[in-house]
Amino acid sequence: MGRRLTLASILGAAGPATRVDGAVREGRPALLRGAPRAHRGRAGAAAVPQSGAVVTQRRCTVARMADEIFGHPRLAAIHDALDPDRTDLDAYLDLAGRIGATRVLDIGCGTGVFALLLAERGIDVVGLDPARASVDVAGAKPGAERVRWVCGDVTALPPLQVDLVTMTANVAQAIVAADDWRRTLAAARAALRPGGYLVFESRDPAARAWESWNRAASRRVTEVRGVGPVESWVDLVEAGPHLVTFRWTYVFAADGDRLTSDSTLRFRDRREIEADLAASGFTVQEVRDAPDRPGRELVFVARRP
Ligand SMILES: C[S@@+](CC[C@H](N)C(=O)[O-])C[C@H]1O[C@@H](n2cnc3c(N)ncnc32)[C@H](O)[C@@H]1O
Repeated sequence: MGRRLTLASILGAAGPATRVDGAVREGRPALLRGAPRAHRGRAGAAAVPQSGAVVTQRRCTVARMADEIFGHPRLAAIHDALDPDRTDLDAYLDLAGRIGATRVLDIGCGTGVFALLLAERGIDVVGLDPARASVDVAGAKPGAERVRWVCGDVTALPPLQVDLVTMTANVAQAIVAADDWRRTLAAARAALRPGGYLVFESRDPAARAWESWNRAASRRVTEVRGVGPVESWVDLVEAGPHLVTFRWTYVFAADGDRLTSDSTLRFRDRREIEADLAASGFTVQEVRDAPDRPGRELVFVARRP
């Protein structure tokens, strides 16, 4: 059966991404809320991270607003507690070790779980994410000073020469628009040294994961330390041939606050992604299964020639 239906199983490791419904409709930039922990670089400009610095910008450089689940401070703060099982990252860590990566760019780093695991191993990591609140959560974690955090999409990246670029937990699917996706692949290639690797996963559309994204299968109450019980569930809004939209609802028992977050994920099949990688100048070395989610994920191991 695989892992049970959780926030991660839909939004991340096993499931979708989200944007704040109201914020999107009203055009309010959720990403611009909140003060930076440390301000380096001009607001809105690409920050050039210094080694060991927590790089935050007053504004994130993004083409599009972050999903609320990642961009709302209250939701970003409970993200890891709702998604504690990160065995999905083991295969990425293993690969980083096997190729001897010493410099890694983690695109869509979210709350920084993978970037910090790499940094603990002495790897020089840049963690990039457009969701201000998630980058703030990442930057406040123990060991965060070892990672260079960039808040923005790939247009915010400084010049890099890394051995490995990763997009863990289905970040690729959160990049919905074709031009964003092309830009992301092009930036990943530009950031890699010749011979470097791009590794990411995307749910296999043939597994039709969205068919189990419903309230009955997902509803649960999580006791979050310092926050209290949080009830959460997902409702499927629309499943089209390529795009799947769903809504997460969170109810905080402590004060009755109820937050919703709508997300759309792009489902691409193997041939489409292989063609996109080839068009972006990558050689596809292998398309694997995810060991923790057999039959459900396409894991691409591509190289810059
Ligand atoms: C499911 S989360 C995964 C987070 C992290 N990789 C992990 O393993 O915990 C998806 C992340 O993709 C980010 N994201 C969405 N659009 C993006 C884009 N265009 N470029 C980079 N990251 C993006 C979101 O902000 C979110 O943090």
